Amino acid sequence: MARPPAISGRKADHLDLCIDGDVAFRSSNLLDEVGLVHDALPELALDAVDLAVDFAGKRLRAPLLIAAMTGGVDRAERINRDLARVAQELGIGFAFGSQRPLLEEGVTAGYQVRDVAPDALLIGNIGAVQAARHPPEAIRERLVEACGLDALAVHLNPAQELVQPEGDRDFRGALEAIARLVEALDVPVVVKETGAGLSRSVGRRLVEAGVRWVDTSGAGGTSWVAVEAARADAPAAERAGRLFREWGIPTAASVAQLSGLGLGVCATGGLADGLSVARALALGARCGGIARAFLQAHAAGGHAGALALGRAVVAEIRMACLLTGSRTPADLARKPLVVGPRLLPWIPADAPLRRRIGP
Ligand SMILES: Cc1cc2nc3c(=O)[nH]c(=O)nc-3n(C[C@H](O)[C@H](O)[C@H](O)COP(=O)(O)O)c2cc1C
Repeated sequence: MARPPAISGRKADHLDLCIDGDVAFRSSNLLDEVGLVHDALPELALDAVDLAVDFAGKRLRAPLLIAAMTGGVDRAERINRDLARVAQELGIGFAFGSQRPLLEEGVTAGYQVRDVAPDALLIGNIGAVQAARHPPEAIRERLVEACGLDALAVHLNPAQELVQPEGDRDFRGALEAIARLVEALDVPVVVKETGAGLSRSVGRRLVEAGVRWVDTSGAGGTSWVAVEAARADAPAAERAGRLFREWGIPTAASVAQLSGLGLGVCATGGLADGLSVARALALGARCGGIARAFLQAHAAGGHAGALALGRAVVAEIRMACLLTGSRTPADLARKPLVVGPRLLPWIPADAPLRRRIGP
């Protein structure tokens, strides 16, 4: 089904800007403030490092997701099928971008990948605002069942919407809609931001709503405020975009904020290598997620380019585990850490993470 030109144009703009536009945060995601302590006597063979973890009800061979990016536009077809294949080959997760076009207009482009990724963790995606407008039964039928999803991500993006001239302005009812979905769906619900991070207070409210899985999507990677400001030709949007470009909770700070709440956390936002993923795991994340770097690798080298990036990232996670004397990601999450002064104030006093600081 064809898309109205304005919406498919927006999706194509997003892809182009994220491939080579100036849309990254200038500030860091603060993962560089996490010092992993080197173990010169690891007493481990590299092959004995076991990277398997569970996320959103499924076993991953390595703690990595290809994070939510696209769908609902013709170009998404090849991108999603190639990236889903990479997920299948590496035993990692793959997430669709927003499935609003499928839910509201029946647009199917880019949303069928099960045939190339029969076993991969497959995560759907819908905005909290849309989740509040549609009954859970419609979401189950049109998204979960129609695409063979293992989990559904609900995205929160108030900063992006406010900069987008045609964006949503009313964010009431999101938590209630999330609670309804958790109750009604028989697949896990993953609540994610889109580049501005999740705080401890939001984490607590999500736990009360029954949520078990979250994705930080913290500040320090792709700035959706910058993306929308680059697209807008309204002076107010450009001005807000400049002012709020760096808005948000850095990824490492968000993982630290969520420590000890009982949530399974995926750390996304400015990750592009396995050492960043390992640092997030050390802070307590269950896995790391990469969006933009996979899109760029795919744009440059297609399926092979994305596969090479995925392979490199997994090898780097393995290397960081060995060099900290960690046989598994869970071992890494028990090791002592050295934390820099910009990250330290974000670590809640009552979080278990506090007790691991210091070599
Ligand atoms: C091209 C592109 C499109 C995206 N579209 C979505 C989306 O539809 N839904 C969503 O929840 N997040 C979306 N994101 C956000 C990513 O899932 C991720 O949370 C964010 O970009 C931070 O990761 P990164 O720094 O690795 O890009 C998109 C990211 C990119 C790069």
